Amino acid sequence: MASKYDYINDQLQQYREKNTYRELLTSQIKGNSFYVGKKKVLNLCSNDYLGLSQNNSVLAKIRNSLRQVSPCSSRLVAGNNINIIKLERILATHRSSENALIYPTGYMANLGAITAISSSEHTIFSDSLNHSSIIDACRLAKANKIQIFQHNDLDHLERLLKNSNAKKIIVTEGVFSMDGDMAKLDLLSELAKKHDSILILDDAHSDFVFGNYGNYGGIPEYFGVENDVDIHISSLSKGLGCFGGYVASSHLITDLLINKSRQFIYTSAIPEHLCLAAITAVSFLKKNKNIQKKFFIKIKWFINQLNQLGFNIGATSSQIIPIIIGDEKVASNFSKELFKKGIFIQAIRYPTVSLGKARLRISLNMSIELIHLTYVINCLDKLGKKYNLI
Ligand SMILES: Cc1ncc(COP(=O)(O)O)c(C=O)c1O
Repeated sequence: MASKYDYINDQLQQYREKNTYRELLTSQIKGNSFYVGKKKVLNLCSNDYLGLSQNNSVLAKIRNSLRQVSPCSSRLVAGNNINIIKLERILATHRSSENALIYPTGYMANLGAITAISSSEHTIFSDSLNHSSIIDACRLAKANKIQIFQHNDLDHLERLLKNSNAKKIIVTEGVFSMDGDMAKLDLLSELAKKHDSILILDDAHSDFVFGNYGNYGGIPEYFGVENDVDIHISSLSKGLGCFGGYVASSHLITDLLINKSRQFIYTSAIPEHLCLAAITAVSFLKKNKNIQKKFFIKIKWFINQLNQLGFNIGATSSQIIPIIIGDEKVASNFSKELFKKGIFIQAIRYPTVSLGKARLRISLNMSIELIHLTYVINCLDKLGKKYNLI
């Protein structure tokens, strides 16, 4: 007999047939070890790039300052805790901006900023590999048109810009979340100026990782174009190892967001202890300038090893290193075999990446010792040969 849920069963069956079905795993931390189910594994999936989520000074700050689980109120009602404001000042300085505004997550920061800034007179120009939170923001925005430019192809972007009479917004990621390559932000900011376009940067994966020595200011600082980005969007749950998202920009724009951004207005404020964690993590980083240097030595070594083995790792030059496999099933099997060897690297499949572009997405982080990375390289070597990838 037909059921009102038949279409859902059909949809789930399609995911299974395409090898794109997803299941939740359970994970936990015991001591310094990471477990998936009952198995202790090396976690090469986390975005806690610098290992700050378990930093002692950050954890101690939370333990000693916990007064309330949550403000249980939005920022504009009773939730605007003084430590949110303090963190916003720190983040504004960190991004060389006049002001910053915290959102509960980076996802919401993208939705909130992109929808509020765009009007029906705007066309949004978005890189084809932009993260789903940017894609969703573009879908929600009231812009008259969304134009997708080929990934990092500034000739293509310029052709689209030239052909448009609309008011313009360009949006890109800094370090791309599934490919690990960098936006050409120096050239993008020139293009934005030339075409009088607002430039929005989602720097979630480069913030607190890239930047001038020990300053961790992200991709704009790396390219020396901090003041050319109109709106900086980022997450606190990656390089900083904390939780939350933020927008850094001018007073004019943050004022607009406070008044118009639905994802800012109609949700509960971020809890105070998470702000204190982020404040402590930023101050730890500023005192420990060398972490960045050590991290990039590790990144270069690892990329070099994979290149020598002959893996296709695309154009990455960051801590996000994809091993591009293509077939969804092969990628899943590869990941499962690594898991048996105690290595946790998830297969990334459609719709996170295009169909036929499945990959293992390796997130390098400071917590994993070189000796363990050497073991990972040996396992990748053996399995890469078994699957005819190298
Ligand atoms: C590029 C990019 N932007 C935004 C986000 C969302 O950040 P958050 O996890 O803080 O919601 C992510 C999350 O993975 C991301 O990769």
